[in-house]
Amino acid sequence: MSTTRHIQNIALIGFMGTGKSSVGQIVAHQLHFTLLDTDQVIEARAGKTISDIFTQDGEPAFRAMEKKIVAELATRKKTVISTGGGLPVNPDNLAGLKSHSLVVCLWASAEKIWERVRTQTHRPLLLEPDPMAKIKKLLEQREPFYRQADVLLNTEMRAVKDVAQQVIHQYHLAQAGQR
Ligand code: S3P
Repeated sequence: MSTTRHIQNIALIGFMGTGKSSVGQIVAHQLHFTLLDTDQVIEARAGKTISDIFTQDGEPAFRAMEKKIVAELATRKKTVISTGGGLPVNPDNLAGLKSHSLVVCLWASAEKIWERVRTQTHRPLLLEPDPMAKIKKLLEQREPFYRQADVLLNTEMRAVKDVAQQVIHQYHLAQAGQR
């Protein structure tokens, strides 16, 4: 993978429930960028939900689809890429995103994440007898990957629109630094 970076997009990474989709929508709208949500692309291509992909085809099949989409993004411009929570665990995915995007990680504690996702049922990895323990375990495993983002933003004490403003600000700074 080339180390040359030409930042033309914004990639949002981070754990489930950190607000990637909602923040991505605001950022894309304000910058007049296209919004691409990797989970949505996968569901559209597979013609089924992420939950069904996990149960019928297995997690490795889902991860392979994620990897394929990231590889296809190499020529993208003016796109906000909202990613699934496990996508940056594959180093190829992170390196691929970094080659063309400012990679911003949205962060929250396990407790805050649980508060946000507890009423939702569409995340197969959390359909567990003890979801909070699973969140803590995954968060710990993934933290080293999330920390490789260009920017780490704590979302806990901030409204979604304020997180979006921070993302836009960081993108403008990165653009200015490239000139
Ligand atoms: C996953 C997160 C989900 C989705 C899938 C797996 C993960 O996306 O990609 O259920 O491994 O953390 P969100 O982070 O958008 O919930």
